[in-house]
Parts: sequence; C-alpha cells; structure tokens
Amino acid sequence: MSSRRKFLAQSAIGTLGIAFGNYACANKPGQEPMGSSEPVPTVLSTWNNQAANEAAWAVAGKGGRALDAVEQGVRTVEADPEDMSVGYGGRPDRDGHVTLDACIMDETGNCGSVCFLEHIKHPISVARLVMEKTPHVILAGEGALQFALENGFQKEDLLTEKARQEWEEWKKTSEYKPVINIESHDTIGMLALDQQGNMAGACTTSGLAYKIRGRVGDSPIIGAGMYVDNEVGGAVATGLGEAVLKSLGTFLIVELMRQGMSPQQACEEAIRRIISKQEGHKDFQVGFLALNKKGEAGAYSIQPGFSYALYQRDENKVQEAASAL
Ligand code: GLY
Repeated sequence: MSSRRKFLAQSAIGTLGIAFGNYACANKPGQEPMGSSEPVPTVLSTWNNQAANEAAWAVAGKGGRALDAVEQGVRTVEADPEDMSVGYGGRPDRDGHVTLDACIMDETGNCGSVCFLEHIKHPISVARLVMEKTPHVILAGEGALQFALENGFQKEDLLTEKARQEWEEWKKTSEYKPVINIESHDTIGMLALDQQGNMAGACTTSGLAYKIRGRVGDSPIIGAGMYVDNEVGGAVATGLGEAVLKSLGTFLIVELMRQGMSPQQACEEAIRRIISKQEGHKDFQVGFLALNKKGEAGAYSIQPGFSYALYQRDENKVQEAASAL
C-alpha cells in the first residue's frame, strides 16, 4: 500500500472513530459501547451524497421512521439531472434507453424492488409501493412501469440532453469498458438508523452506462445491492454490479456482523472474498458500507476513490474509505 493510501486508510478509520465520539475510545469494533445504549440516529450513504443525507436526516434525526428517511434521502439523487448514475439524467443503455433499478427494505424484513424500469423518475418510491401494496418483492420492465402508472406515477423522458450527447459520443467507438470511479458518484445506497433504533435501507441506480438492453445489476437485488436485518444491521454496495451479484456482498456482511464482526471487519472480508475469487478485480471497483445497531459504521472498497457520507450527532461528513489496492 502506498504511503498516501495508508494515510487515507488510517484517516478514514480515524475519522470514523471521531464520528462515534466516546464509543470509539472505549470499545473495540463490534463490542458493546460503554455507557448509554440509546440508539444513535445515523444516516450513511455511498459517495458524496451529503445533500441526500440531509434529506434523510430531516426524518431519521428528528424522530421519523428510518424507512421514510432512506426513501426521502435517495429521492433527492434520483431527481438530480447532474447525477449521471441514478434516476433522471442517468446514462442510458447502449440503445439510448435510461433503465432504472432500485430496492428498499424496512425494519421488519419487508422489501420491495423494481428493475429494468423506464420513464419513472423515482424508482425507489415504486419499489416501496411494491413492498407495501403487493404480495411480491420484485417487479420488472413493462410490468413495473404499468404498476407505477396505475399507481399515479408520471411517465417522463429521463434522458437529458447532456446524457444524450455523451451517448452519441460513446457510439463513435462503442467500446464497452466501464471505467473505475469515472462518475463523481455511482449508485446511491443508503442506510438509516432512527431514534427508535430501527434500521432501513435503500439503493437506486441507472446501472452501468451503455449496458446491453435488459441488463439488471446488483442494486435491485436484496442481499446484493442492499440488505438490512433489524437484529443486526445493514449494508449497501456500489460499483460493478456483476461482481456484487456473484458474492451477495451485503447479505454476507450482515451475516458476518451477526457472527460478531464489526461493520469495518465485515466490509473488509466481503471485499477480500471478491478479490480472492474474481480474477478481474484489478479492473473494477466495488465499495461496501455497513452499519450496525449501535451506530457503528464500516466502509471498504477494492480500489481507492470510494467516498461515503456519514451523518451522525449533527455532523454530516464525507470521507474516503480505505481500500484493498
Ligand atoms: N452497482 C450498480 C450496477 O452495477 O448496476
């Protein structure tokens, strides 16, 4: 590891310690914090999503339900045309269609998901409706669109002029090779712990730019892009969905935390599994975030450059995760 990498790794872990106040001084990761066992309201999200954290904190930090917090939080990114990896303004598939994936999970283990959904700006809210209003977990493609329209969502053109121009430029070579950390941020995955001590998670993305039409990534798959178990904690993923799908990384992380690992240790082990089993790992990025019921967070990625936003104790900070390479 280069000295810069070591510094970032140490400072990321160090900053996590600061974020958890006196917990970090008195406890090793994964141990019961000393003193108060009151829930520590927390919002944790992938990349530089401080604005999304603000929207979620306005709910989870003020007595609201974690489920509402994560939905409100990620909706801000879905609506932002400048974000070219999520929702409106997302980069299209190779045929020029913006297709969206999202999932959501609440503190009772209920979950909902949509994948390969077109024309709907807020797939996360459709996923929530799938969870709350149907006996199913996943709706896909035309069926998901029909369900959204039947439930009052508006059909919209999600391809912005900027995304269309980039796609036109890409078509000149049509070279399909996702570039690591190319976007200022990729998929948003968010976890929230509310004042009642309940956790929920959400994940939403437009997926890989210029993917083959019909491709679905990890983000709408419960246990791949996101997983929450209210007895233990939750995890979210970002980066190359295929790599996350092959390892069911977020389910793995929650199970490792259940067995006693800290969120940081669990994220590191999930990345280690990908590195040990997937030969091409030097050419792609995966980043994981985890949060346990005590409000302890973990963050780790394959490559440098994965940042995350942590809102806790009235502080909303962006930090870079430590990485394996
Ligand atoms: N992680 C987002 C995707 O691969 O679609």
